[in-house]
Amino acid sequence: MLVLVSLAAPGRAQPQDPEEGPAPALEPEASPSPSTSTSPSTSTSPSPSPSPSTSTSTSTSTSTSTTPTPTPSPSPTPSLLLERGRRVYQEHCAPCHGLAGDGNGSAARWLKPRPRDFTRGLYKLRSTPNGALPSDDDLLAVVNRGMPGSSMPAWEDELGVADRRAVVDYIKSFSPRFARALAPPPVALEEAPTPAVPLAEGALWYQQLGCGNCHGPRGRGNGRALATLRDDWGRHIGAADLSGRLRSGAGAQAVYRVLMTGMNGTPMPSYADGALTEHEADLAPAVRKRLVARRLWAVARYVVSLRRARGGLDWLLRDTPGRAGP
Ligand code: HEC
Ligand code: HEC
Repeated sequence: MLVLVSLAAPGRAQPQDPEEGPAPALEPEASPSPSTSTSPSTSTSPSPSPSPSTSTSTSTSTSTSTTPTPTPSPSPTPSLLLERGRRVYQEHCAPCHGLAGDGNGSAARWLKPRPRDFTRGLYKLRSTPNGALPSDDDLLAVVNRGMPGSSMPAWEDELGVADRRAVVDYIKSFSPRFARALAPPPVALEEAPTPAVPLAEGALWYQQLGCGNCHGPRGRGNGRALATLRDDWGRHIGAADLSGRLRSGAGAQAVYRVLMTGMNGTPMPSYADGALTEHEADLAPAVRKRLVARRLWAVARYVVSLRRARGGLDWLLRDTPGRAGP
């Protein structure tokens, strides 16, 4: 079992200690994952190649100690904004996420997945590298659209844009990580290769990269490692049913982004550095980048096809009782 889980090592977000406290991980939010990809059970081992992209991205926040600027708060009137955000939060968000932002609102115990605990700054849907803080726009996008398949509602039609921005600012105040560092720039996403990579190639890489260990051979969220999966709060977490509705969005582009960024706080790793075999790690950076993009786009297309396949053949393909959703 441990062997299976270690496949997630390529890019698991790093703040895994149960109590984050004044975490030691200071600036390199996007620190390249610990190279512990030890025991791959597939022939092409996802190798933790040295990633040139993650090292530079945080340089903005490292130098501030010498300058007199007090905090990285970008807002000219932070207190007014925070006050507005607090009001919105207490009315609309606290019943689930809790007054203290710890995910323990009065409704929380009936919800699965649980409402997010904001105090650790771990967010699933981001444009930023694995392990990094989300950008304000990332948070706003989730608040706007919600997380379909969970109880997290969409707020775009419920709240005005100023209220939504204010509440985003407010939930950041629950975690000290946002005061210490700025979100790094988004990961560079490549265009989909044209012509599109054949689905069979995506199916192959789905298997080679070990997706099936967690998500199951046909993406139903029923892989062999399922029972061992825990989130960073120590709770059991389901591997998403990839043939259902995805919280990250519909379409291959959304899946490709998840594969590049991983989902912080969960066992879902990033494959930005994990989609190459060991000997491919020596190739020129541009070649590596192209290979990674081709493979991850191929897998992404394949994942999208799982949902279509389910439509007509559901009863034929049923390989486990019950739905192992998140
Ligand atoms: C009915 C309960 C409920 C309410 C009300 C609610 N949320 Fe959530 N929220 C959730 C749940 C459940 C999750 C976790 C979903 C998951 O992890 O898949 C979540 C997750 C989130 C996330 C994390 C997104 C990520 O990428 O990880 C943010 C941000 C968020 N909520 C903001 C808000 C804000 C702001 C409000 C109020 C305007 C709000 N929520 C109201 C249930 C709720
Ligand atoms: C170590 C286990 C593990 C491996 C390996 C893994 N995943 Fe995941 N993945 C998860 C978990 C757990 C979640 C759900 C997190 C949650 O519920 O929030 C997830 C979430 C996802 C999502 C987002 C689902 C949504 O609702 O938006 C996609 C897409 C995805 N995985 C695809 C893949 C693909 C493709 C691979 C292989 C390249 C892969 N995963 C490998 C555990 C894994």
